[in-house]
Amino acid sequence: MVKLDPWGTSTIEDYSHLFEEFGIQPFKALVEKIPNPHRLMRRGIIFGHRNYEAILDALLSNSPFAVMSGFMPSGKAHFGSKMVMEEIIWHQEMGGDAYVAIADIEAHVVRGLSWDRCAELGRDYILSIIALGLKPEATIYFQSTMERVKDLAIELSGEVNLSELVSIYGFGGDVSLAHMHTPIIQSADILNPQLDSPKPVVVPVGPDQDPHIRLTRELADRVNMFKVFEADNGKVKVYPKVSKQEVGVVLNHLKTELEKEFEVSEYEAHLEIAGSVERVRDVATKVELEHGGFAFLPPSSTYHRFMEGLTGGKMSSSKPESYIALTDDVDEAVSKLMRAKTGGRISREEQIKLGGNPEECSVYAMLLFHLVEDDEELTRIYMECRNGERLCGQCKSEASSHLRNFLIDHQQKREEAVEKLDEYNIVWGKRK
Ligand code: TRP
Ligand code: SF4
Repeated sequence: MVKLDPWGTSTIEDYSHLFEEFGIQPFKALVEKIPNPHRLMRRGIIFGHRNYEAILDALLSNSPFAVMSGFMPSGKAHFGSKMVMEEIIWHQEMGGDAYVAIADIEAHVVRGLSWDRCAELGRDYILSIIALGLKPEATIYFQSTMERVKDLAIELSGEVNLSELVSIYGFGGDVSLAHMHTPIIQSADILNPQLDSPKPVVVPVGPDQDPHIRLTRELADRVNMFKVFEADNGKVKVYPKVSKQEVGVVLNHLKTELEKEFEVSEYEAHLEIAGSVERVRDVATKVELEHGGFAFLPPSSTYHRFMEGLTGGKMSSSKPESYIALTDDVDEAVSKLMRAKTGGRISREEQIKLGGNPEECSVYAMLLFHLVEDDEELTRIYMECRNGERLCGQCKSEASSHLRNFLIDHQQKREEAVEKLDEYNIVWGKRK
């Protein structure tokens, strides 16, 4: 069995097992239904999802939804972070409320970074996401000072015990309590957009974060007051959550409300309703909110492929050669790309005869993931490489000039973002 490890270093070579083993759904089937799908969607880089249907419905019906993701400020923002940033921005453009968390608590307690360093690196993430096009309506915050997220984390931690954390994350006896609390804070990050009102929320992440998504979906369900589902007998059943003391009163209230529309039978521990599950859910949500409950919807998620490091293997913040940071000096970035591992053959003759291997080429990956927006141009590059009509030297210089243009523009926009920070709603982190 392959374990998805959020703090590990393993690359996930083959994503298909994630479908069967973990119940992640293929994204491909949804892409054609999405108006103006993002480059990362069109190209299959976003390969999987959980319940993205809820987001698609909201998109198509113009109803409220949100997008949220988080960045751990334990290293520099790089082209991998850029993917998540673009996904947040795309969903904001499509009408979603955007939330950006800087996971400074996680970086501090798991990776041992000082609060000052987290603040500095976190600010860099914020400047880059603004430079890429995030609009001021977004909510941006550092975990360390976001009271309502920390409060929600405490509430959620009442719904999970040690054995469960051990079985999801493999925590051993030497793991600190603070580390164990970080997935719960992440769950609170993810549910936070629903504190004002329940709505679908999509969380773009890499597949390593899926354990957190599953836990959050579970916690969202547990912390709610009612469980509403369609039973085999065709009736809708409503069960109160036993852990909630005042739930008897609330269940009575719910019964009264439901009886205005439906025939309701009351059993010792649940209600049975002859009616539509959607409508019963709406009524239950209204009653739950009136009584101070959350009525969370389980969050949706998307999963994107990881880009291989420039040196082959995984991008790693401890190997600066393996990735290009969005703040790298432009000449240095270009020279990293010029030295990157390609899928080319040993000699010019072989390349012409056999063609290159773009699937194994980190230069091609940069073009595919980031540097070429036009699909036809990308296909042409791919075919030329495959057919031996393209040599790596020339290809690298082409890619380099795209990279140079992008970074010059991005870094210019970052400077402009410094001037615009005041227009944004940002809860800055703690220091020292
Ligand atoms: N754990 C994530 C990481 O290592 C960061 C993170 C914190 C996050 N809160 C989040 C991601 C909420 C998605 C949603 O990168
Ligand atoms: Fe990679 Fe370009 Fe060489 Fe093909 S020609 S292997 S895409 S660098």
